[in-house]
Amino acid sequence: MSEAAFEFLKIQIDSHIGWLTIDRPKKLNALNRRVMEEIDAAVADAIDDGSVGVLVITGSGEKAFVAGADIAEMASMDPAEAQRFSGFLQRVLARIERSPKPVIAAVNGFALGGGCELALACHLRIAAENARFGQPEVGLGLMPGAGGTIRLPRIVGRGHALDLILRGQMIDATEAHRIGLANRVVPAAELTETVEQYAKGLLKMGPQAVSRCLEAVISGAETSQDEAMRLESSLFGLCFATEDMQEGTTAFLEKRKASFKGR
Ligand code: CAA
Repeated sequence: MSEAAFEFLKIQIDSHIGWLTIDRPKKLNALNRRVMEEIDAAVADAIDDGSVGVLVITGSGEKAFVAGADIAEMASMDPAEAQRFSGFLQRVLARIERSPKPVIAAVNGFALGGGCELALACHLRIAAENARFGQPEVGLGLMPGAGGTIRLPRIVGRGHALDLILRGQMIDATEAHRIGLANRVVPAAELTETVEQYAKGLLKMGPQAVSRCLEAVISGAETSQDEAMRLESSLFGLCFATEDMQEGTTAFLEKRKASFKGR
């Protein structure tokens, strides 16, 4: 993971946590094609990078996580271009959702439209008290186009999702937490530290097992219950072929802390 090639991203790896900061604060980190291409490349790098165990996505500045897809760029698109753009956004966010390493959204302000959809594609969302979530697209005569109509109902339920999508109103972090959109809410000044501690907690777990949990939950949601049960059993079985499982169970029986190697 290196930021050499990036115009709109800052990359930092610290204690096995890869921080990917979208850095376009004058436009509230709005997602244009270039920003999305860079996110896609950085996430692919982080997945391949053995020194990264957890990825965090956040926004630059104190105001916004991401205020949406870039409205100026979208305004002149014709229907075919808009359809392609939506497909492109969906593919980038699918890479995040299918990451075998946990991805946390550190939501440090506005998470609107494509920004809310980016947060939804992350596995977990930790929000600052000043965070605001919403799908305001209908107010622009648009609809969500980066997976929001699919992921939002799966995460908060259809009723809350339609309330957000059809009314286009923002909700604050407390309400986002109440409906299950945010996993945690903390004072803005504590966001980085909280996310870091949370990520460190994930890093203590068996990495092979964590990856299989993600696969079971994410892929399992896309199939029938019977198929998801079969997937769970097969992933459960695969855990037993890992050194991590041997180490975790042996450490428990020997009354010591496990030292996982991720193998
Ligand atoms: N696209 C492009 N530029 C944006 C932007 C966006 N989504 N959001 C903010 N900006 C720009 C503003 O145009 C402004 O630029 P200038 O200084 O050059 O004029 C700058 O960021 C600062 O924004 P504001 O002056 O508007 O800041 P504010 O504090 O007054 O308001 C806000 C903040 C309420 C978030 C407001 O900026 C806003 O409503 N932004 C748009 C939110 C939105 O509708 N997002 C959905 C986009 S559509 C989408 O995402 C589709 C999809 O699903 C793929």
